[in-house]
Amino acid sequence: TDGVLVDRYGRVARDLRVSLTDKCNLRCTYCMPAEGLPWLAGPQLLSDDEIVRLVRVAVKRLGVTEVRFTGGEPLIRPGVVGIVAAVAALEPRPRISLTTNGLGLDRLAPALRAAGLDRVNVSLDTLDAARFARLTRRDRLADVLAGLAGAAAAGLTPVKINSVLMRGVNDDEAPALLRFALAHGYELRFIEQMPLDAQHGWDRAAMVTADEILATLRTGGDARTRGDAGTGATRRTGFDLTPDPAERGAAPAETWLVDGGPARVGVIGSVTRPFCGDCDRTRLTADGQVRACLFATEESDLRGALRAGADDDELARRWRAAMWGKRAGHGIDDPTFLQPARPMSAIGG
Ligand code: GTP
Ligand code: 5AD
Ligand code: SF4
Repeated sequence: TDGVLVDRYGRVARDLRVSLTDKCNLRCTYCMPAEGLPWLAGPQLLSDDEIVRLVRVAVKRLGVTEVRFTGGEPLIRPGVVGIVAAVAALEPRPRISLTTNGLGLDRLAPALRAAGLDRVNVSLDTLDAARFARLTRRDRLADVLAGLAGAAAAGLTPVKINSVLMRGVNDDEAPALLRFALAHGYELRFIEQMPLDAQHGWDRAAMVTADEILATLRTGGDARTRGDAGTGATRRTGFDLTPDPAERGAAPAETWLVDGGPARVGVIGSVTRPFCGDCDRTRLTADGQVRACLFATEESDLRGALRAGADDDELARRWRAAMWGKRAGHGIDDPTFLQPARPMSAIGG
């Protein structure tokens, strides 16, 4: 390698997140408006070969060991299986994962597994079909559940579930989501909502915090919504959560053993429990821009360089320069905080 992706604070990026498209087949209310967004135009998108070329530079020359494909929704990119296969053929072979809303995963899981995908994270915020249809503006809960089952059956494990809790929308469902995950052997992580929605509607007071999530799991939730109000039941329906002794490393999720383990539950407390100091991530957007941070205000145009004929040395040099300028933290608590111009769906989470 020509040196690693180190920043001025000494953090080294070994985890590359690649957005394969900014488009999505759901319309989660906390992400994008019903009509969708002005999508990137065809010529702006990296081709499959261009993506693989840039990932190769990251893996072979810059010390990246983990590659995660994201979106928008990565499974709607026609070349996704081929891209995974090409990345799995790199030496040294990176670990490969994918973050998806689960639609179509049932059908694609065997081919993705055969191509070399190691595991998946699936977004699922509710188990109630009517609520799912309101929250994502599409009546597709059954497809997501089939996607989860298909991923597990294909061996894309551990299958993780990401749930964003919203006050008054689905915050009463935390215990039910955990019971569901435990019953199926999925690893659930609750996520604090971040100011990355296209509509700029994020409201700190409406955010369900890590502390609240943990308290709800420990008590088992509100007796009124649990359905045993007035029964005088003394049965403890909460979960016993103890800190997971496993090394956390740079993982966004803080994890707890559930009822003594081995099952775990995670909380990604980006806002109230930031983990920026341990961040090991670098990001590539679907239009070939390197972002040093989810909340970066600047990007580095690798697509332009690549199409102008830059060789791998030059691409590696530009990537390192982009990462050197990575900010210390997301700055959500700064009075001068400004939400990045690109929404979550165009960055890749
Ligand atoms: P694992 O390797 O399975 O732990 O994946 P992950 O949790 O890093 O990835 P995933 O795509 O499932 O993301 C889960 C949540 O973590 C999403 O809301 C991401 O936006 C968030 N996340 C991932 N990386 C970062 C980061 O660098 N900073 C912040 N603030 N959030 C992040
Ligand atoms: N804050 C936190 N997580 C979000 N996600 C989408 N938008 C936000 C947000 N504003 C989640 C998705 C998916 C993961 C990649 O990020 O639900 O699980
Ligand atoms: Fe699609 Fe993910 Fe945004 Fe939902 S959160 S609309 S699944 S990109």
